[in-house]
Amino acid sequence: MTLSDEVIALRPWSRDDAGFMVDAFTDPAIRRYNGVLDRRGYPAPPLSIAGAEAVIDEFTANWQAFATTATPSGVAFAITDARSGDLIGCCGVDDWSKADVAQFGYWIAASARGRGYATRAAILLTRWLFELGAARVFLTIVAGNEASVAVARRAGFEYEGTMRSHGVWQGERCDVMRFAALPHEWPMRGPGESDRATESP
Ligand SMILES: CC(C)(COP(=O)(O)OP(=O)(O)OC[C@H]1O[C@@H](n2cnc3c(N)ncnc32)[C@H](O)[C@@H]1OP(=O)(O)O)[C@@H](O)C(=O)NCCC(=O)NCCS
Repeated sequence: MTLSDEVIALRPWSRDDAGFMVDAFTDPAIRRYNGVLDRRGYPAPPLSIAGAEAVIDEFTANWQAFATTATPSGVAFAITDARSGDLIGCCGVDDWSKADVAQFGYWIAASARGRGYATRAAILLTRWLFELGAARVFLTIVAGNEASVAVARRAGFEYEGTMRSHGVWQGERCDVMRFAALPHEWPMRGPGESDRATESP
């Protein structure tokens, strides 16, 4: 399964990508916003190669489950440069509910930020989720994570409100914002737009 526009390609993770994931997770923002936190909001120790391989194996198992369930809970794509194949980041489906509501997340390696890659990945992933029949796609973003808020807005998501004290970071409660897109009102949907996804099996 590959999704691509003219700039990036999304493809499933492979164990060979573990080193890239380990390096990416040395970034404090990725550890904070995408890593595992304990109940007081302290991040897990840095990922090891074995830890990254275990994460990738879980993605692979979720892809296999998707082949039978047709609902992509827990699947993740590596974001790559469409021309060179170089790894850039990750986007993945955190959950697909019984009511066909999908939630996803993303990160971009620190050295590849600010070039629109996350916005492109969010658009490609959202389009794919709507094609699979999602009735709603949403993102949760810790208040103050302005780079991620900018991605959500540029990818056509609507701000729906802030869940006060929904998160915790290093002992302090923090607010979490919610952004969502609905298929009939999503502005990036429909034929003819310049970044329309091409999909290959
Ligand atoms: C959030 C993240 C994925 C954005 O990746 P990216 O590839 O740089 O995103 P894009 O280039 O598509 O868009 C970034 C937008 O945010 C803006 N931006 C970047 N840093 C910003 C900041 N500190 N404050 C405000 N806007 C910011 C950029 O200017 C750009 O908007 P513009 O094109 O209108 O100028 C990346 O910063 C990241 O991985 N952060 C750490 C992990 C994380 O926060 N994940 C998301 C969890 S919800």
